[in-house]
Parts: sequence; structure tokens; C-alpha cells
Amino acid sequence: MKIVVTGGAGFIGSAVIRHLISETQHSVVNVDCLTYAGNLSTLDVVSSSSRYSFEKVNICDSAAVQGVFERHRPDAVMHLAAESHVDRSIDGPSAFIQTNVVGTYNMLEASRRHRHSLPADKQDEFRFHHISTDEVYGSLGDEGLFTEETSYDPSSPYSASKAASDHLVRAWNRTYGLPVVLTNCSNNYGPFQYPEKLIPLTIMSALAGKPLPVYGKGENVRDWLYVDDHARALVAVLERGQVGETYNIGGNSERKNIDVVRTICALMDELNQGSAHRPHEKLITFVTDRPGHDHRYAIDASKIRRDLNWTPQESFASGLKKTVQWYLANQDWCGRAVADRYAGERLGLKN
Ligand code: DAU
Repeated sequence: MKIVVTGGAGFIGSAVIRHLISETQHSVVNVDCLTYAGNLSTLDVVSSSSRYSFEKVNICDSAAVQGVFERHRPDAVMHLAAESHVDRSIDGPSAFIQTNVVGTYNMLEASRRHRHSLPADKQDEFRFHHISTDEVYGSLGDEGLFTEETSYDPSSPYSASKAASDHLVRAWNRTYGLPVVLTNCSNNYGPFQYPEKLIPLTIMSALAGKPLPVYGKGENVRDWLYVDDHARALVAVLERGQVGETYNIGGNSERKNIDVVRTICALMDELNQGSAHRPHEKLITFVTDRPGHDHRYAIDASKIRRDLNWTPQESFASGLKKTVQWYLANQDWCGRAVADRYAGERLGLKN
């Protein structure tokens, strides 16, 4: 298959492309506009492949998106391009509405037109895979899990924009017959994540001896999914998922934020013994809570396990250790990723 991957220079998108090029025979057209969080160096290991090409295109530019479909005539789209940081969506929702809602609409319309130009047998085989988030379901209490049937109840501008995009994708399936599959994942972590999210921010701040901000009391729970496990799941859904279906993807690794941060501190003590900031736990600082902060996310991934035989391979302990080791070994990459763009300051408190 020739697959257009949007957002392929981002954290999850780049993991998907590395997986597609190294582990499958599919070809990839990476469509990315290289925002602050996009970085083509994430693809250095695969970018010389004859099965890889790059188009610097913003999905909000419908004419440019149309051009991509005309030039490449893909068999499938994996749509990952999105503004993804909840705190940034609180400070400035506009980019989230544009990219996540209008950008998805542009991708759907271009896919619909392109599919009509294909021979009949190819029209049925075409796939539009929308990669989304468990945040569309809102917050769980202390019990229960998100299933594919959980009602939508988004809390932040980010999650509301992703919920809107999910609705658009389902509408294009029901109204126009576009063959879609959807996935909703829990919190990803691993190499190449932009250091604004909890895990990489904590590692980078601990390295620098800066305060480690924990929102509220650190009691909020997230369900952590190693990014390469997610990439394998996404390719399984694209190749074998049922048209019109949604699959939840989670790591079966629920942790309180404070426990995640303490575990990172312990790993930093162990793996960075020369550090002047040991014990790193003394850097933990409780700060004002995030507005509208969802209490708990946790995924019931039994559908994808049962139907597509996917399970996560990484435990949280092994994945987190690998991740800390990767950031310790790639401090230059992080320095370049944030240079002139983000100094680790608190985001998401503007009102
Ligand atoms: O559940 C999937 C979602 O996970 C994705 O859809 C989002 O794109 C992704 O950003 C992530 O959302 P979260 O808001 O859960 O991730 P974040 O890393 O921003 O925060 C994780 C938790 O840690 C959350 O409860 C807020 C808290 N936090 C975050 C930061 C950045 C802190 O306590 N301190 C921090 O400095």
C-alpha cells in the first residue's frame, strides 16, 4: 500500500513511519507542516528509503492537500496531524480548531474526491484511518474503564476538537461511504516526545536541576502506552480493522502522576549517578492545578486484543527505563527541539 501519513514528523507519527518502513513493505508519504513540535530528524533512520517521501504541507491548506492526493494517489491515509498539548489548547484554542477540526475536514474531503477517482475495486479497499485520543471520553472516577461505547464528554479545547474530528470522520463514513477506521489511545511515551508533556518534561527538568511541576496533588491517573506498541497497533488496525469500527488502544499501565514523577526521579538517580541533583525527588514541586483537569483515564483494550491479536509488549517499568536512557543519550536532540521555542515554562493557566 501507498500510505499518506499526516503528522509524520511528530512523536507518534514518526514512530508509525519508522515502523512502516522498517517492518513492512508499505510506502509512505509523510505530510507535515513542521510546527514547533515537528522534527524531521526523528526520521533519519528511514528517510533514505525509496519507499519514503516527504511533503511539507499544512492540512489546513485544502489546495495543497488536494495536490498531495493528485501527485501520490494513495491507497490509504493515516491521519495523525494534530495540535496535541492540552495546556497549549487552554492558552490558545484557535490552532486546535483549525488543525484538528478544519484540517481533518480537508483530509476527509480530499480523500472522498480521490476515492471517487479510483477504479471500483480500489474504492472499496481505500482506507481513512483517524488516530484520536481517549480524552474524547472525558474523565473517569476511581473505577471503570473507557470502552468503544463510552459516551463522548470532552473537557478541554484540545479534547473537544478531537471529539469534533471523530464525529466528522464517522459522518463521512455514514453519509459518503468513505471506508474509515478510528482509534482512540491513552497517554503515549517514549523516545522523541516533545519535552512539554509530563514524562519528557520531567526528565529534562531533572537533568537541569529545575523544579519538577506536579499539577494539584499529583493524584490524577493516566494509562501509559509505549509509543512503539501504539505504532504496531495502528498498523494492525489499518491493515486488518473493520471498516466503520473504532478500536481503543491502551497500555494497561495506570499510574498516578506523582508515582510517575517519583519513578523517573529514581531512574535518574540510578542512571545519572554523576548528577549534582540527586536525589532528584527533592526537585518535585506541587503547583496550581490544570483548569478542567480530568481525574483519570484508563482504557479497556479488549476489542483490539480479541479482534486483531494486539497486546502491548512493553511494561511501564521497561518502557520508562528505555525512555529515560534515550533522553540521557539524546540531550542534544532535545536541546535542538526546544531551542528558541520552549524553555519549560508553565503553560495552560491563561484565562
Ligand atoms: O490520553 C491521551 C492524551 O494524553 C493525548 O491525547 C494528548 O495529546 C497527550 O498530551 C496526553 O494528554 P495529558 O494532558 O494527559 O498529557 P500531559 O503529559 O500534558 O499530562 C499528563 C498528566 O500530568 C496530566 O494529568 C497533567 C499532569 N502534568 C503535566 C505536566 C506537563 C503535571 O502534573 N505536570 C506537568 O508539568
